[in-house]
Amino acid sequence: MSIKVIVAGFKGRMGSTAVDMVKGDDELTLAALLDPFATEKEVDGVPVFTDKADLVGFDADVWVDFTMPAVAYENTHFALENGFAPVVGTTGFTEAQIQDLTALSKDKSIGGLIAPNFAIGAILLMKFAAEASKYFPDLEIIELHHDKKKDAPSGTAVKTAELIREVREPKRQGAEDEVETLAGARGAEFDGFRIHSVRLPGLVAHQEVIFGAQGEGLTLRHDSYDRISFMGGVNLGIKEVVKRDQLVYGLEHLL
Ligand SMILES: NC(=O)c1ccc[n+]([C@@H]2O[C@H](COP(=O)([O-])OP(=O)(O)OC[C@H]3O[C@@H](n4cnc5c(N)ncnc54)[C@H](O)[C@@H]3O)[C@@H](O)[C@H]2O)c1
Repeated sequence: MSIKVIVAGFKGRMGSTAVDMVKGDDELTLAALLDPFATEKEVDGVPVFTDKADLVGFDADVWVDFTMPAVAYENTHFALENGFAPVVGTTGFTEAQIQDLTALSKDKSIGGLIAPNFAIGAILLMKFAAEASKYFPDLEIIELHHDKKKDAPSGTAVKTAELIREVREPKRQGAEDEVETLAGARGAEFDGFRIHSVRLPGLVAHQEVIFGAQGEGLTLRHDSYDRISFMGGVNLGIKEVVKRDQLVYGLEHLL
């Protein structure tokens, strides 16, 4: 039986790529499209909505969300309340919001996924970085994105930092008497190490984790050159959440 999918944010860069992916998979059916900036009433026979309230009672299984950080929590809450299993790529959730949504999904017995990165290479980078941090506790994260990205640091950088915090020996890096003569020069502080955000036209989504030790260095890097890199993960997410009864944070939980 085909899985019926709503795509929220379908006019955007990621949403439109997700629409193409859903259309190209016989096991999925595009059931509805949502975007407040849509002017059309339907696209190829698929109904278009500009207000999510009109989707109450709609017949669909999964809510794919690529919208914006300011509405991601509200949208995911709405999806769970209305029986749509959320597959959320939108970034900017706080830890408390993720806990809250996980609890709601348990109450409702609905599967779901919030994934700051759907690219398999980025998942591997996070895993390898956490592993390396056990041996190289001195590290810095540099994430690089296109200049339209609204939140900083990226959800991937935060997730990487959280995974590192779980296993790295606590350590405050840098000189004791370090002084920033220009505010922000050392980046954002996270558990004693630093995260830097680069925003430039031409970039898609990239991340480096640089490790330093006595006389040696190690650099791990992942590049998403094209948004298609995220679609295998979104496809997997859609097919997995309908089998589950609880929301998870991170694609690695479904691999
Ligand atoms: N998880 C991942 O792998 C991954 C990868 C790339 C980007 N992202 C994230 O996905 C999100 C979207 O990125 P983008 O580059 O496509 O942004 P975008 O600005 O191109 O598109 C966002 C779309 O969402 C729409 N929108 C805004 N509010 C909405 C609402 N309440 N309901 C429905 N639609 C709404 C906007 O009109 C717009 O068309 C960002 O948070 C970005 O960081 C995640």
